[in-house]
Amino acid sequence: MDTLTPKQIVQELDRYIIGQNEAKIAVAIALRNRYRRSKLSPEMREEITPKNILMKGPTGVGKTEIARRLAKIVKAPFVKVEATKFTEVGYVGRDVESIIRDLVEVSIRMVKDEKFKEVLPKATEIAERNLVDIILPIRKKAETGEKSDAELKEELLQDIRAGHLDGITIKMEVKATPKPIQLNPNAHGGEIDMGGIIGNIFGGGAQKKVRTLTVKQAMDFMINQESEKMVDQDAIITEALRRAEQDGVVFLDEIDKVAAKSGREQGHDVSREGVQRDILPIVEGCTVQTKHGTIRTDFILFVAAGAFHISKMGDLIPELQGRFPIRVELNNLTEADFVRILKEPDNAVLKQYKALLGVDGVELNFTDEAIEEIAKVAYIENENNENLGARRLHAVMEHLLKEVLYDADDNETKAINVDKDFVDKHIGNALKDTNLRKYIL
Ligand SMILES: Nc1ncnc2c1ncn2[C@@H]1O[C@H](COP(=O)(O)OP(=O)(O)OP(=O)(O)O)[C@@H](O)[C@H]1O
Ligand SMILES: [Mg+2]
Repeated sequence: MDTLTPKQIVQELDRYIIGQNEAKIAVAIALRNRYRRSKLSPEMREEITPKNILMKGPTGVGKTEIARRLAKIVKAPFVKVEATKFTEVGYVGRDVESIIRDLVEVSIRMVKDEKFKEVLPKATEIAERNLVDIILPIRKKAETGEKSDAELKEELLQDIRAGHLDGITIKMEVKATPKPIQLNPNAHGGEIDMGGIIGNIFGGGAQKKVRTLTVKQAMDFMINQESEKMVDQDAIITEALRRAEQDGVVFLDEIDKVAAKSGREQGHDVSREGVQRDILPIVEGCTVQTKHGTIRTDFILFVAAGAFHISKMGDLIPELQGRFPIRVELNNLTEADFVRILKEPDNAVLKQYKALLGVDGVELNFTDEAIEEIAKVAYIENENNENLGARRLHAVMEHLLKEVLYDADDNETKAINVDKDFVDKHIGNALKDTNLRKYIL
């Protein structure tokens, strides 16, 4: 488990979510408590169960976003599910235990990635050596000089490491390997999907097969193969089960949608309540059978979230409410928040549009005044129409930049300056309408 302090967790969340401090602090504390608990004696640990969190707040103010970001910063097994998923197609309680099984799968992938990272240097070394042996005969044919095998091997090794041969294809005998998994934990874009390749090989039966691969693909493939040999699969499963059980976090989104709305027709309410009853044992602590072994759910941290604008928290069955002792409310976003959401987060709305249009050679600039105006329009539209929270910003931006998005093409580089006039010209109507309405009233 990671050792981020609550403050560090909040700081990380701050990079993406504006405001909502109460919610951030609650999850940060809950996560830190996991870590604290893990340092206690087994007897003490057994006594301390997580204090589950219920987040309530209007639509589009960051509930799901907090969950999403949390997933990336907690180095703990994490799954997010919509509670509504279990009300589908009429029948109640569609295998709610699958949440826990998913958690175990996530945990296994995590532990496996870690173990693979550990053996990566060693596996790479072996893979390089094997690859050199495969390419050597080819190189020898092409080579007219009087170099010794050892010299050629050394040259090849350097070439492979420098990536000079990445694009070259070779034929190689590949044995079916165990499960496809992500190979190179450091892999970034453009990487081939080894899972797919291994899958194909697998599909052809378990025998050896000759395949044409680029050197890069072959390298990745062999690293994977060697890594599989080096890691202890059983140990991975054991550790993964332990981690899911002790550190697991389950985010139950849209929990309000399975709360019975007061005054609704019976049928629906029964099915919603059914889902709550199905979720209950898992949240209360039970044992779930997975194909990798059994797992207790007592120590899994549950964070539930919902808008609760139609139903209330009190509409949840009491037993379930009782299992979420920590309640946090997320606030409605203000105009000032909107300005910040437009500008500040790592994935800020304006940054997104700049990046998108950058692809077509358009340089997009916004004056501060324009940004304030955009925030104002979004805020007013939320007030006058349905309140979409920060999602409104996207709607407003699409509207504002419709022409630019339509006209931009990759033939010319140009700069577009979005100032107050630009905003007024394109989306000023919203403001005028309100002013008018105010005037009439
Ligand atoms: N406080 C915030 N700071 C930055 N971005 C935000 C904030 N709140 C919402 N957003 C952005 O608005 C969008 C919707 O937010 P999110 O999915 O978190 O809504 P939600 O609270 O889960 O709403 P719902 O109840 O409808 O599920 C996301 O793109 C998110 O990045
Ligand atoms: Mg949501």
